[in-house]
Amino acid sequence: MSRSAALELDGVVHQLPVVEGSEGELAIDISKLRDTTGYITLDDGYGNTGSCRSAITYIDGDAGILRYRGIPIEDLAGRSSFVETAWLVIFGKLPTVEERNRFADLLGENSMIDENMRKHFDGFPASAPPMAILSAMINTLSAHNPELWNVTDDDSMERAAAALMSKVRTIAAAAYKSSIGEPKVYPRYDLKYADHFLHMMFSVPYRDYQPTKEVTAALNLFLMLHADHEQNCSTSTVRMVASSKANLLASCAAGVCALWGPLHGGANVAVIEMLQSIQDMKMPVAEYVRKVKAKEDGIKLMGFGHRVYKNFDPRSRILKKAVDDVLAQQHASDPLLDIALELEAAALSDDYFVSRKLYPNVDFYSGILLRSLGIPLNMFTVMFAIGRMPGWIANWKEIHDDSKGRIYRPRQVYVGPTGQSWEPRSER
Ligand code: CMC
Repeated sequence: MSRSAALELDGVVHQLPVVEGSEGELAIDISKLRDTTGYITLDDGYGNTGSCRSAITYIDGDAGILRYRGIPIEDLAGRSSFVETAWLVIFGKLPTVEERNRFADLLGENSMIDENMRKHFDGFPASAPPMAILSAMINTLSAHNPELWNVTDDDSMERAAAALMSKVRTIAAAAYKSSIGEPKVYPRYDLKYADHFLHMMFSVPYRDYQPTKEVTAALNLFLMLHADHEQNCSTSTVRMVASSKANLLASCAAGVCALWGPLHGGANVAVIEMLQSIQDMKMPVAEYVRKVKAKEDGIKLMGFGHRVYKNFDPRSRILKKAVDDVLAQQHASDPLLDIALELEAAALSDDYFVSRKLYPNVDFYSGILLRSLGIPLNMFTVMFAIGRMPGWIANWKEIHDDSKGRIYRPRQVYVGPTGQSWEPRSER
């Protein structure tokens, strides 16, 4: 029996259909509300708004569950590679060996960027934020090999997805090399995704970088855990842009810009800056927690809290263990990890955080993991973007494949001045 919700407005009862998701989540369909009642709904920050039906990722924020295409990330972590997970996220099922190999070949074949594009890097100052370079360069890709980005069927979709994932990796490493004044390293067809990136990041003309298997595994894990996270700010941005029928590159470049902010992907930088400043000022953790609770200067415990998770972010548990493993393998320690552990323990036993259901999110430990891999701070959010690319591509594909899709166009409640008229300048 189909359910409905009753809404009484001005003495009239309106029946609204209820939509049920495959995991039993319930949503009231208000798509005809304005037509039938004249009302719209108002939801600052979209905390209660389902903007789409999507078959890609499922999150249960109360239970701390994250699944890609129905598969829990705990199942994928340490067993699946980033490339396999990317295919799963984009195309909806785990790839066969043949599909996996074909995609890996496409990633290898498309790793070059046009030689002329390399000149663009010289136009940026060395201090340019790599996120600015990344978003600009993704758009620039559309000026080269336009046939590559023209998605008309499954084959061209797969090629475009591989080309974007692959070229983004090359662009990110080239942006880093530019920023430190080293020659850019050309791609190498024989290397797998994570090693290929590390090669372009850390090899120099006189010495090839050789990652340990633990470093390769940790980078794969980092990227895999970031592959998708349903309708977050950047993914919603990608869908918003895609809904106007904008191409894959324009939509994903917009995603990069949305990811940049410190409340979203930029939080992995903000966490390290917070830990570093606590260390530099020799501030007791209890004092930092006091300042957060007092909301002094608007400071927050970065890497804590989430719009959807009201429990542990499952990604943070996996990343915490990965940090321990990599540091143990390197026989190294990180003083920032000690501060993070102390902060976590303090927060999880403090009523301010407990009552607000604030737990560590993906960014609390991801920066410490990236540090242990030698990734510099200004590249952290770029790393998030490389990892999130499959999710953005999958969401773009969902919009692209939906022949009945409408342009995203929310309404607003206007609260500005009314009945004004133009006044001559001399009378103002
Ligand atoms: N530290 C201290 N207080 C916090 C924090 C925090 N990290 N997060 C939320 N609060 C408080 C907030 O001040 C508010 O308190 P009150 O009820 O007294 O006004 C209450 O908790 C509810 O917070 P909210 O701002 O309504 O929560 P939100 O859902 O709008 O924001 C968030 C979610 C992730 C933006 C926020 O928790 C935050 O700013 N966290 C720190 C930044 C961060 O780690 N971002 C990464 C998010 S996960 C990865 C990603 O999406 O990219």
